[in-house]
Amino acid sequence: MTPRCCIIGTGSAVPERILSNAELESIVETSDEWITRRTGIKARRIASNLRPETSTDLGTLAARKALEMAHTAPENLDMIVVGTVTPDQQFPSTACMIQKEINATRAAAFDVSAGCSGFLYALAIVDNAVRAGTCRHALVAGVERLSSIVNWQDRSTCVLLADGAGAVIIEAHTGSGGIRSAHIRSDGNFGELLYARYGNLNPPQPLEDVDIKPFHLIMEGNRLFKRAVNFLTSIAKDALKSNGLAAADIALMIPHQANIRIIEALAKNLGIPMQRVYTNVHKYGNTSSASIPIALDEAHRAGLLKSGQYVLLVTFGAGLTWASVLLKWSI
Ligand code: UT7
Repeated sequence: MTPRCCIIGTGSAVPERILSNAELESIVETSDEWITRRTGIKARRIASNLRPETSTDLGTLAARKALEMAHTAPENLDMIVVGTVTPDQQFPSTACMIQKEINATRAAAFDVSAGCSGFLYALAIVDNAVRAGTCRHALVAGVERLSSIVNWQDRSTCVLLADGAGAVIIEAHTGSGGIRSAHIRSDGNFGELLYARYGNLNPPQPLEDVDIKPFHLIMEGNRLFKRAVNFLTSIAKDALKSNGLAAADIALMIPHQANIRIIEALAKNLGIPMQRVYTNVHKYGNTSSASIPIALDEAHRAGLLKSGQYVLLVTFGAGLTWASVLLKWSI
């Protein structure tokens, strides 16, 4: 029987510093009212150079928590796959850096660059390896330090993006639980809607200790918004269709946390009431590939996921890329 990819542990980590909308009012021409109404974001976490809060640090902490929950020793891991667009350095990969920290001596480790879809792309790759029989245990993570590629003078992006990490431990099982489908898509024709460009400015005085990379993010938010809703809806429907399921069968949908209005439009298109949609964008903003694993960890630790329930994960991001994973919860 073909083994399935089951999540047996989750973990997450966010930086200590909370940056509120009110504080952003002193940095750019914006208001708590505008940010809340247009995005649903009230606060976000921003990493500091003064604390161990690099992408590797946050990813390692999330990985350790997930390993602890899974009761899995790091040396059992066959693969470590990390979705990120903000590695600490060009190479070695964040996955290799985390491997070193947790001492996962046997694992093959690499990063996936798929914008905010990085975590679900990573999960899809590991799902294939598990079903092919080449992987029994894996660590899959989404790790970002977007504060380092934000232009802190661009109010259209700096109010949205933030830092954090989430991770899951995967184990191969032959039962009915685990990943039932993984769909990944991309279209490079829309690359100009969200990309990184060389050059950046020093952060404003209240954020002096933020790490700044020599490139920054450019986004056409309004055009991206419309694409996002369409692509999310279509790939979520692909997941339901390929499993012969209806929206009513989904116990919890965990979408990428970019904007509450995008999430509400997606839920409406699918006919899933917001009570069955997990959101935490109000407190963390958009953490790119970390957003889904952080939300998954929070939802699980809050007791919102019961073994045997169907959970739908769905995302979109730079590339453009978009993806869905439908799983039967198995912890
Ligand atoms: O993870 C994937 C990455 N990205 C996304 O998912 C983002 C998708 N897009 C969005 O979430 C929304 O498009 C935004 C939140 C980025 C923007 O919301 P919007 O309703 O699409 O606003 P807009 O870009 O059409 O801008 C409306 C107005 C503009 O002013 P004018 O031209 O109407 O005078 C902007 O200059 O809002 C202005 N604006 C702001 N005002 C106060 C833009 N940013 C701000 C701001 N504070 N922070």
